[in-house]
Amino acid sequence: MSELEEVYSIELESFDNPYPLWYLRILYELSNGKYFLVSRNENGRIDGYLAAIPRKDGLCHIASIAVSPKCRRQYVGSALLQSIFEICSSDNYKVFLVEVYLYDYNAQKFYIMNSFKPVKIIPHYYGRDKHALVMIREEV
Ligand SMILES: CC(C)(COP(=O)(O)OP(=O)(O)OC[C@H]1O[C@@H](n2cnc3c(N)ncnc32)[C@H](O)[C@@H]1OP(=O)(O)O)[C@@H](O)C(=O)NCCC(=O)NCCS
Repeated sequence: MSELEEVYSIELESFDNPYPLWYLRILYELSNGKYFLVSRNENGRIDGYLAAIPRKDGLCHIASIAVSPKCRRQYVGSALLQSIFEICSSDNYKVFLVEVYLYDYNAQKFYIMNSFKPVKIIPHYYGRDKHALVMIREEV
């Protein structure tokens, strides 16, 4: 199984509307490879991934993050975020943005615990009546 196929299997376990494999390939390209991170367990299997897309305005967009359900609440997701903050910081990206489903309080808590703050709502972002909360983290 290729790395992206492993990531795809986590995607399938994690979302009601998972990204297809072809879209993960596009995310990989857009993240220049460098901002597409995977985390591995002690057996070398991928247990989480994060895709970030640096933008020309100096902002880094967290396009996707997911951790395999059996590996959650073990700080795998937080470690992935921490890694992207460090990589981006050395590339001078100091603002991080993510969209999260307005009623996904678990994911919002995860971002709050990682120093993101809610800034605005984008109505119908995920489809009709499926609004997104935009959250931002700024390095000081
Ligand atoms: C969101 C997600 C990436 C978090 O990954 P994780 O590795 O489980 O998160 P961490 O262990 O680093 O969590 C750090 C803290 O965030 C908070 N948190 C994380 N998941 C939480 C949950 N399900 N409910 C409440 N708080 C949660 C907790 O405060 C946690 O610390 P604690 O366990 O000591 O209380 C993971 O749950 C996931 O893949 N979810 C499905 C996909 C998804 O929703 N992605 C984000 C879309 S915007």
